[in-house]
Amino acid sequence: MKFIQVCSTEELPNNSQKVVNIGKRKIALFHYNKKISAIANACLHKAGPLGLGEVSAKYDGMYVTCPWHGWEYNIETGSAPPGFPDQQALYEIKIQDGFILVSEEPIVKVHREHHNDPLLEDLIKLKYQTLENSLNILGISTTNLARNLPRYSTSEDALEKSLAYASEKYGAATKMVKLRDLEFRNCEGYYSQHSHACTWPCSITEMNPEDGMTEVYESMILWADIVIVSTPIRWGNASALYFKMAERLNCVQNQITLNNRILVKNKIASFIITGGQDNIQQVAGQMMCFFTDLGFIFPPFSFLGWSRGWTAEDMDKNTLLFKKSEYIKRTSMEIVDNCVEVLKQIKDVNSHLIHAPKPRRNDSLSAEIENKDMNI
Ligand code: FES
Repeated sequence: MKFIQVCSTEELPNNSQKVVNIGKRKIALFHYNKKISAIANACLHKAGPLGLGEVSAKYDGMYVTCPWHGWEYNIETGSAPPGFPDQQALYEIKIQDGFILVSEEPIVKVHREHHNDPLLEDLIKLKYQTLENSLNILGISTTNLARNLPRYSTSEDALEKSLAYASEKYGAATKMVKLRDLEFRNCEGYYSQHSHACTWPCSITEMNPEDGMTEVYESMILWADIVIVSTPIRWGNASALYFKMAERLNCVQNQITLNNRILVKNKIASFIITGGQDNIQQVAGQMMCFFTDLGFIFPPFSFLGWSRGWTAEDMDKNTLLFKKSEYIKRTSMEIVDNCVEVLKQIKDVNSHLIHAPKPRRNDSLSAEIENKDMNI
């Protein structure tokens, strides 16, 4: 077997690690407990750089933890922790005249087990449930209410009115998702490490398909023709739960950046924004900006707003007036009419002809600069 010199022993003192190249392949070298070992640098999950992972004693030996999402490998054997059949490629090491040499080919071959959870199959394969003549309307309520003593919510009430009208007038299939009822984790910013570390479905969902965002991904991306999102105005912005969901939708937008793959096809979005005080237009602007970046289409007049101005501190009267408002009754129906009308017009649009004029990885000014530790 041919061996390639990769660095001097001084460059890899005890308790250290580094990434080296053999031709185009990247190898993670480890020197712990006075033993030098080498495994392929690209994690079997999404090619995270194992050479940058933390090494510690666990299970039956010394393990490196992938810095992207935490998969683990024994640094001396390349195997996954006990009970997992995955095997990282393992290389042989020789020390000669103060230099470290690595075998050109692995002495133990790589093996990656199929890990996809059946709960996520539809999302992975993008099994869309919309049809030529479907009219699936999803309401997403982003207000937070106490579970045991829910207060009256203006935004959710308007959304319920819209859904009831859609079902009654158009025979639409409707679904309400209340974010407060879903247990879901905050986005953990995997994208910040590398664009490929943010996956579809979201890395958190991959790790835990029971995470509540699975429901949002399935309903919003696969099932809905029309999505109506309702939010209260909180300190001049949409609700915290809205932003918690929006951050977890980064994985949808990121498919455009990474793969020029638009997941949202021929779908309409509109918004219901209610608050005691003002800022409807800023909230609408923020939501529209985000939803257009996901690929949604807006009908004309795509938000309904309610507020009573800067001095409206008598909130008891706010709910009183809202409940009686003819304006709310009318507009909660009108936004549905507009969504349905525009949906009819876009059903036939060939979604393959729609482009995403957004920056991709290669558009970066530093795209040509190699990061020697990364595999992609
Ligand atoms: S755990 Fe390594 S890339 Fe995801």
